[in-house]
Amino acid sequence: MKVLGISAHYHDSAAALIVDGVPVCAVQEERLSRQKHDAGFPVAAIDWCLDHAGIEASDLDAVVFYERSMLKFDRILTSALRAFPASWRSFPQAMRNSLGEKVWVRGIIASHLDVPRRKILFTDHHAAHAAAAFLTAPTRHAALLTADGVGEWATLTCGHGQRHPGGRTEITLQREIRYPHSLGMLYSTVTAFLAFSVNEDEYKVMGLAAYGRPTMVDRVARLIRRTADGGFALVPEYFEYHTTARRSYSSRFVDLFGPPRSPYDPIDLATEAGQRYADCAASVQRVLEDTLVDLTRALHRETGLPDLCFGGGVALNGVANARILAESGFERLFVPPAPGDAGCAIGAALYADRIYLGNPDCDVPDHPFWGPSVSASDLAQVAREDAQYVDELDDSLLIERVADELAAGRIVGWMDGRCEFGPRALGHRSILAAPHAAAMRDRLNRDIKDREEFRPFAPVVPVEAADRYFDLPPGGARLGRFMSGVFPVDPAWRDRLAAITHVDGSARVQTLERSMAPRLYALLEAYGRRTGIPILLNTSFNVAGEPIVTTAREGYSTFRRCGLDLLVAGSTLVSKHAAPATSQEEAEWPSGSVAESGVA
Ligand SMILES: [Fe+2]
Repeated sequence: MKVLGISAHYHDSAAALIVDGVPVCAVQEERLSRQKHDAGFPVAAIDWCLDHAGIEASDLDAVVFYERSMLKFDRILTSALRAFPASWRSFPQAMRNSLGEKVWVRGIIASHLDVPRRKILFTDHHAAHAAAAFLTAPTRHAALLTADGVGEWATLTCGHGQRHPGGRTEITLQREIRYPHSLGMLYSTVTAFLAFSVNEDEYKVMGLAAYGRPTMVDRVARLIRRTADGGFALVPEYFEYHTTARRSYSSRFVDLFGPPRSPYDPIDLATEAGQRYADCAASVQRVLEDTLVDLTRALHRETGLPDLCFGGGVALNGVANARILAESGFERLFVPPAPGDAGCAIGAALYADRIYLGNPDCDVPDHPFWGPSVSASDLAQVAREDAQYVDELDDSLLIERVADELAAGRIVGWMDGRCEFGPRALGHRSILAAPHAAAMRDRLNRDIKDREEFRPFAPVVPVEAADRYFDLPPGGARLGRFMSGVFPVDPAWRDRLAAITHVDGSARVQTLERSMAPRLYALLEAYGRRTGIPILLNTSFNVAGEPIVTTAREGYSTFRRCGLDLLVAGSTLVSKHAAPATSQEEAEWPSGSVAESGVA
């Protein structure tokens, strides 16, 4: 049975294809259209999925959209009517912003795909989030939590799921918190107040929070009150997102927190204003964490289950995830590689397959690599046409060569196999570099990523070696599989891991299992043999304002336009220089004993 899942029209559109119960492919539209956060109907993603599987749209048994458009329309209309007359000017804009073409989704899908309307199904938005988290995780019985800005009406749901091997699947979301009460909207309101882009830059607030002190927790607490049933409610006087599309915070919010940042003012942490922004970020971060810890503690008490699956955009907050793992009572926390709305494409397809169509449960491969492959020969061809140095090497030679270059301070664009589904580069479309000196972080920010200095870079480490360098709680290695948790770097190693240690001593570590990305794992081993530390800095392979690269040609174009030294796709290695030259200042790996370098 073939089921196509679609998420679209809000942000990060995507398509995913399930064949006989197992995902075959999934890709975000932005990776193909090259428009970052492309929210359009994912024509290219759908075409690619069908093409990849070698099927026609007429072969599909079902096409599933990730939310119920009419319920969303109902929410926007009701919110506007409640806020009338304040909302009457902004209602048309709110309709365009939030709804777009969604009301007519069935017709749009039918016309694009030429499938009969009876084959077009819909899931609840949060059911798709829950399915994306639960049905892709290696657990059969788990508590479920979803949290985001808003779907139709729900902004947070709690429940539980059970898979009966070879049999039926149950997903029960028995409680929900409804718009306008929303943890995601609370966080996004502060994101807007700090002049970052809502729905895109929430992670900048989390990064900035580490530079601040939570001195405004009392003030943030005035925005959100706990309810007797264990939930929460936002205090509407401080917000405007439910009445106008123009601004998300009210003048009372500004009275409480001071003037908002202008997008044209850089954040200078040495100034009073800069520190106020950081303190504001730290305070909303703390309140978000505390609220999630309380909710998940209650969920753990109620379900008595050891596993929690967490989906929705809020699950991208790795600092909060680490606290949930440490403090909720759950032993394992599963966050999928694409917990946001793009991941709903896979969630909606799995939900429909298991629950609407009643197909038997089966395991889903535990990796994020569902996108298009990279071609080593394409890279060799385009680089030769451009008169660059090209080597085509056996794996063992290539890995030793790249490890040499990394140890000499080179920065490498690393493309391998199929690209990741979700916002994070997990070793198939990554920029890799030595993690030791702060100078490397600065060089990456300056020459490649062109981004704010308060944003940290992440490390990747073999899972077996992670405990030596990072202070992982029980279950932390699992949370690090898809870079979903932020954990302390062991104080003894912070000086030698300065490029990936955030200002508060933490890192969003990827704990790599050999079977998930064997070539990157081998590279970590080879790098460890040279430097004593089998860790690399791993950041997404893109430059500011562009989506992560997908094809060899896109990787090559990026390589030529920024400060990357080497580019690898499969067996092809392209270099901007004829021979390696050591840049000791940026590599600065310690002369630790080789005995330290073992991965085990
Ligand atoms: Fe969502």
